[in-house]
Amino acid sequence: MIITNFKLYESASGDKALELAKIHEEVAKETGADIQVAVQAVDLARISQEVDIPVLAQHIDPVGFGSGTGKILPESVKMAGGVGTILNHSENRLKREVLEASIKRAKENGLTTIVCAETPEEGASFLEFDPDYIAVEPPELIGGDISVSTAQPEIIENASKLIGSEKLLVGAGVKNGVDVKTCIELGAKGVLLASGVTKAEDPKAVLMDLAGGLIV
Ligand code: G3P
Repeated sequence: MIITNFKLYESASGDKALELAKIHEEVAKETGADIQVAVQAVDLARISQEVDIPVLAQHIDPVGFGSGTGKILPESVKMAGGVGTILNHSENRLKREVLEASIKRAKENGLTTIVCAETPEEGASFLEFDPDYIAVEPPELIGGDISVSTAQPEIIENASKLIGSEKLLVGAGVKNGVDVKTCIELGAKGVLLASGVTKAEDPKAVLMDLAGGLIV
């Protein structure tokens, strides 16, 4: 599984987000790979309507219908066509009790949860909340040029022991098919990445290469 987090990159906002999501769809269809996109809340409905791959939110709040100005309502993500959400990204960290409540609200809406953790140990501590996936990303490598699989392969091995391969995603600096392949060989189910795709001159070529790395 490959999940591209569009974050707030200009190349992955508004019309460009739709264009980039369509490229992900093309590559998913051509390769058969499980490729998903995590888009900004304001882009989610449009992308979900136009693209036939799983579309995730980057965040939800543990709120319900009613008051709560500016929060992201899990029901609205669902109604807009979203199938899941990232939670507790290193750029949007949550208090433990907020994370627990957010996972619960996601589950009530049938949304898949991808909970980020900065270390394997922290990731393992989230198992009690039973998220669908735990994405371990060393914060210092996020947005950088060196993949976690090269800089700290032991983190992936350790995470797979503590969390188990079925739930484990890893990320930070993942850029190409070799990185993906190494992550999978070290025990991850898939990768979460951003800049390798959002900053690429030719995102389709990068995604084709990344998808090739899923075949181990
Ligand atoms: O959510 C994925 C992200 O934090 C990794 O970012 O740019 O290192 O692939 P990047």
